[in-house]
Amino acid sequence: MDGITILGTGEYVPDTTATNEMFAKFIDTSDEWITTRTGIKERKISSSTPNFMMGAQAGRQAVENAGLTPKDIDCIIVSTCTPDFFYPNTACLIQNVLGAQPCACIDVNTACTGFITALDLARSYLAMNVYKTILVMASERLTNQIDYEDRGSCILFGDGAGAVVVQKGENKLYYSHSGAEGDMLESLYCKVYYDKNNPFHKEDDFLKDKIDTPQKERYLQMDGRAVYKFAVDAMAGAVAKICADSGFSLDDIDLVVPHQANLRIIQAAIKKMNVDESKVYTNLETHGNTSSSCIPMCLAELDKAGRLKRGMRICLVGFGGGLTYGATIFEY
Ligand code: COA
Repeated sequence: MDGITILGTGEYVPDTTATNEMFAKFIDTSDEWITTRTGIKERKISSSTPNFMMGAQAGRQAVENAGLTPKDIDCIIVSTCTPDFFYPNTACLIQNVLGAQPCACIDVNTACTGFITALDLARSYLAMNVYKTILVMASERLTNQIDYEDRGSCILFGDGAGAVVVQKGENKLYYSHSGAEGDMLESLYCKVYYDKNNPFHKEDDFLKDKIDTPQKERYLQMDGRAVYKFAVDAMAGAVAKICADSGFSLDDIDLVVPHQANLRIIQAAIKKMNVDESKVYTNLETHGNTSSSCIPMCLAELDKAGRLKRGMRICLVGFGGGLTYGATIFEY
């Protein structure tokens, strides 16, 4: 069985830092509440850089770190649930900035689980010899979708982008498992907002009982407790399934990179997985939840710190709107 080889990583960290104390100036909250409930101290917000430009900068860095040029890329796969355009897709926009024409350009959206989905897709293409070199990335500007009057959600999220360049890893292990519970859509969603200027359309009443104000119509809606409960079980369950399929135990894993939603969710999930906390990497203290960008941004940080070694077994695990979940274990 063939897996992947990561040749290079990159990230883009936005320019503006929003601390917990800054939030306490415009909503009824405190550094103490946010820190104890989430582990987040600050997050980075893109004040003016569009999503695709963040992605392009992360992608360029990953290509350079791989020792390649954009013309060496056969396919760009971008995970995003916060695109700047309905079309062209974000991968095409990034391809244009990088000058990577004429490679294939694909967007995926499984919300915060998206980087794992994108990596799975890349691995399948590589295994089938469809493409040789793939730029896999996530780029998210979630703060565009946030209602800054909703203290239950606005304190959680930040912006950013992360990227990896991958080629086929001959005889390297790669296992993954993903799933979704579409019936839990109301726990976490952001509905597409259309101006009602079409004389042929009647009122769209889907979720009308939930979306009762223009404010809610435009912004992310979340039932924090429902997501929390789902996340712990879904992440632990996905990793347990991979372990059962592969015959590995978490003792055989060197590094776990979970979705950076909430430190308490991560701690509860790793307790359920029975994994040593010292193997788990987090950056949510300084970045908040950057949706599907969390995991590749963590990989780029680990790479920069010289902590990724060939042969290492890495577990990525996440969850997000859908509700979706996914995990993968691969050899670096
Ligand atoms: N500051 C102060 N108080 C706040 C607050 C804030 N930022 N946000 C909510 N509260 C209040 C609530 O209004 C509530 O007050 P009440 O008891 O008077 O009604 C109280 O704190 C408890 O709210 P609750 O929602 O039960 O808190 P919680 O312990 O579940 O923590 C989250 C809230 C959002 C931090 C937590 O549920 C969570 O992280 N869920 C997962 C969300 C997530 O990861 N989403 C992204 C998925 S990709």
